[in-house]
Amino acid sequence: TERTFSIIKPDATERNLTGKINAVIEDAGLRIVAQRRIRMTDAQAKKFYEVHAERPFYGELVEFMTSGPVVVQVLEGDNAVARYREVMGATNPEQAADGTIRKLFAKNVGENSVHGSDSAENAKIEIAQFFTDDQIVG
Ligand code: GTP
Ligand code: MG
Repeated sequence: TERTFSIIKPDATERNLTGKINAVIEDAGLRIVAQRRIRMTDAQAKKFYEVHAERPFYGELVEFMTSGPVVVQVLEGDNAVARYREVMGATNPEQAADGTIRKLFAKNVGENSVHGSDSAENAKIEIAQFFTDDQIVG
C-alpha cells in the first residue's frame, strides 16, 4: 500500500464539488485517510509549487491556489500515486479521458479541480507540508 497527496482546488470548492470528487476517489479504491479544508497562504502556495517557479504560469497558479478554500488530503491504496493520476486524468481537461475527475469537473488547464503527487518521493514531501503523522489515520 502507498500514500499520495491530493488537493481539491478552489475552482472545485467554489462549485461545491468536494463530495462528488471524493466519491470518484473512493469508487476508484482509494481511501481518504486525512482531510482538511484550508485557505492556502501565499507562502504555502509558493513553496508547494516551487518546482514550477520558472514556468510562465507560476504567478497565475499561486494566485489561483490562494483565491479560495482548498481541501488537502492524504489518499491511501495500492499504487496510490499512479492510481490517483489515472483517476484525475490529463492536466488539460480537453485531453482527459472519460470518467476522470478533470474530464467530469475541470474548467480549463489552470482551473483543473485537483492536484495529485507525481511520485511516491514527492508525495512524502507534499504530505509533510500539510499533515503531521498523527493527523493521518490509516
Ligand atoms: P498537478 O497535479 O496539479 O501538479 O497537475 P499536473 O501534474 O497534471 O500538472 P503540472 O505539474 O504540469 O502543473 C501543475 C499545475 O499548474 C496544473 O495542475 C495546473 O493547475 C497548472 N498549470 C499547468 N499548465 C498550465 C498552463 O498552461 N496555464 C495555467 N494557468 N496553469 C497551468
Ligand atoms: Mg504536477
